[in-house]
Amino acid sequence: MNPRAPLARDTLPVLAREAPVELEIETDDDGVVIRLPLAPLSCHHSFTSGALARRARQSKQALLRACNNKARSIRQVLDLTAGWGADSLTLACHGQQVTLLEQNRLICAILDYSLQCLSRESNSSEVADRMQLVQAEAGAYLRQLADDHAFDCIYLDPMFPNHKSSAKPAKEMQILQALTSNLDIESCFDLALQKARKRVVVKRPAKAPDLTAVKPDVVYREKTIRFDVYLTG
Ligand SMILES: C[S@@+](CC[C@H](N)C(=O)[O-])C[C@H]1O[C@@H](n2cnc3c(N)ncnc32)[C@H](O)[C@@H]1O
Repeated sequence: MNPRAPLARDTLPVLAREAPVELEIETDDDGVVIRLPLAPLSCHHSFTSGALARRARQSKQALLRACNNKARSIRQVLDLTAGWGADSLTLACHGQQVTLLEQNRLICAILDYSLQCLSRESNSSEVADRMQLVQAEAGAYLRQLADDHAFDCIYLDPMFPNHKSSAKPAKEMQILQALTSNLDIESCFDLALQKARKRVVVKRPAKAPDLTAVKPDVVYREKTIRFDVYLTG
């Protein structure tokens, strides 16, 4: 039995009215439909069906190698920038315990609803049990975290800047960019280096410069993105 408390049905519409752009929100049994009628853009956020859910279950992903080691001893992951939760879901599907932080209340409420749907699926409820959602700003959360290094890995995926020369991001990411922004990522990264027991992992566009002057110890690459790994212990 999943102890997740159900989200009040009217929470999402109330938060949608406070969004910085015109927005329509609808829930179904699988997740949440999000529409930006003026863009126009729409997507269905779901942890149980669709591309995000399918991709999360694939095992050959650089993310999985970056956030674990050969001994598979990295168990507790803190995702500082949950966004649509795709990366967190991937890690949870492959057995890691993930705490998802998201500062934006609407996005957090969408994640919460989709997690409730996931926890109702009999073959996925243990994946949902491995995902703990917290609405918080990452810097504030890290500052109040005790120095007992509770998280083996701290993960950061800030929103990438848009370059005129590069292709438009996927519509899910365009919607996220319309709704929210990065907050204080460099200081979150410095704090993460102090708090992670074993490593900090940062997702970057393949050709972007390093996030700060600190050089990564290992880099895992995919075609358009890379994961910079900073070993801390
Ligand atoms: C690029 S998205 C992350 C996408 C995510 N990795 C996924 O798989 O869907 C970045 C997210 O980080 C959130 N964010 C940015 N700065 C933050 C901060 N300081 N604390 C918490 N969340 C933050 C934004 O609101 C946004 O939702």
